[in-house]
Amino acid sequence: MTRFKRPMKPLLEVNDLTIQVNQQLLLHNVSFKVVQGRITALVGGSGSGKTTIASAILGLLPPALEVTRGQILFEHKNLSLLNKEQMRLMRGSSIAMVFQEPLGAFNPLMTIGQQIDEVLEIHTKLHKDQRWHKILDVLSRVELPNPAEVYHRYPHQLSGGQRQRAMIAQAVVAHPKLIIADEPTSNLDVILQARIMDLFRRFKREGMTILLISHDLGMVSHLADDVVILDKGQVVEEGSVNAVMKHPKHTYTQRLMEAFQ
Ligand SMILES: Nc1ncnc2c1ncn2[C@@H]1O[C@H](COP(=O)(O)OP(=O)(O)OP(=O)(O)O)[C@@H](O)[C@H]1O
Ligand SMILES: [Mg+2]
Repeated sequence: MTRFKRPMKPLLEVNDLTIQVNQQLLLHNVSFKVVQGRITALVGGSGSGKTTIASAILGLLPPALEVTRGQILFEHKNLSLLNKEQMRLMRGSSIAMVFQEPLGAFNPLMTIGQQIDEVLEIHTKLHKDQRWHKILDVLSRVELPNPAEVYHRYPHQLSGGQRQRAMIAQAVVAHPKLIIADEPTSNLDVILQARIMDLFRRFKREGMTILLISHDLGMVSHLADDVVILDKGQVVEEGSVNAVMKHPKHTYTQRLMEAFQ
């Protein structure tokens, strides 16, 4: 009997994305796909343009950065055709972001719980007490002790690692289709890193698709299905993690692999 492979449905497609600042190219014809239900890692050195790609997907590019070419499709819809309000609704419910610097991403004047609650207020019809239970549940899932206490803390009252987990909780609380996680474990010790990796695997089993931005090839090899290698604003290699790690074709990928081994 012939076994058919399930079709690889792209949830997100970045096509030819070119971004410049003051006539200088930051991203040059960047194209890659994130397949539904899989974890895709975006790997590249510092300054290679990873966070810029994430910001472009979310419609959060700083004003100085100009998209001069290309498009981003989410579920085959061109995101640049959405107006500000449609884009705001998209963030959190369809695409959620775990930012690289969680302190800057939280509002310093609101408690962690209030900020997670805002996401639920915008994207769900849950009542206040249902939202409260859901928030405590998501805070405990990301391994934050005493969720009820964390709920009432302000961002500066948490450690860097705790804030990073609170940010992951905020990203997943409304069950988005795509999570973009920018170096989500960089502030965590190795034990917590392993737990957070488990958590991402669970999110994947629950149907979420993940774009994981990371320098950490160890994490990428354990967690990701596919990998996109970025060097100085250009995609130099793309494929399944197994294929790329076993037989890196591009010299930059080979150098990365040597440094990792
Ligand atoms: N607002 C901005 N104005 C001018 N240049 C910028 C701006 N934001 C980013 N850049 C430049 O764009 C390039 C890519 O930056 P980006 O933050 O995307 O890199 P990255 O791959 O995320 O790096 P890291 O691993 O250090 O987080 C860098 O050269 C950076 O200096
Ligand atoms: Mg970055």
